[in-house]
Amino acid sequence: MGKNERQLTITWLAYTRPEELPEQEQELLREAKSALDKAHAPYSNFKVGAALVLEDSTILSGANYENAAYPMCLCAERSAIATAVSTYPDARILTMAITVESPSHEIDKPAAPCGACRQVLVETEIRQGADIAIILRGQSGQIYRLGSAKHLLPFHFDGSFL
Ligand code: THU
Repeated sequence: MGKNERQLTITWLAYTRPEELPEQEQELLREAKSALDKAHAPYSNFKVGAALVLEDSTILSGANYENAAYPMCLCAERSAIATAVSTYPDARILTMAITVESPSHEIDKPAAPCGACRQVLVETEIRQGADIAIILRGQSGQIYRLGSAKHLLPFHFDGSFL
């Protein structure tokens, strides 16, 4: 009866150095960093790299791909997911690492995916019936690890509403 206040708690791990992560996740971060070098970002000059690992240890990556028609830009995270689901439609994605590079200043904290990428990540989790761990890193500073994309988008829309 009446109103009641509710709370949501999200948890993540904050690491000081990449060496503190398990070796496979360190490798994923390295792959995300090298994917970022393949970004096509002539308009923003802001580079994003995403690398994901499948259950059979295959690593795939993606980078942002910009267009002069700005809204057509493809984010790194969704590029990586599109590669994974179109190449290995039945393989589960275990983890995605995301990193960024700014042309104007050093990003000293983890940069989180945009709302659209969060939605796609969450729907991919639902589709595959398993969470995707998310690792976030800027150019320096702490590294965050979240156990699920749902921590980034707690009130998500999904097919159950349709
Ligand atoms: N970008 C991504 O690739 N992922 C995100 O989650 C946020 C933004 C890209 C899009 C665009 O090419 C550039 O970063 C600046 O917004």
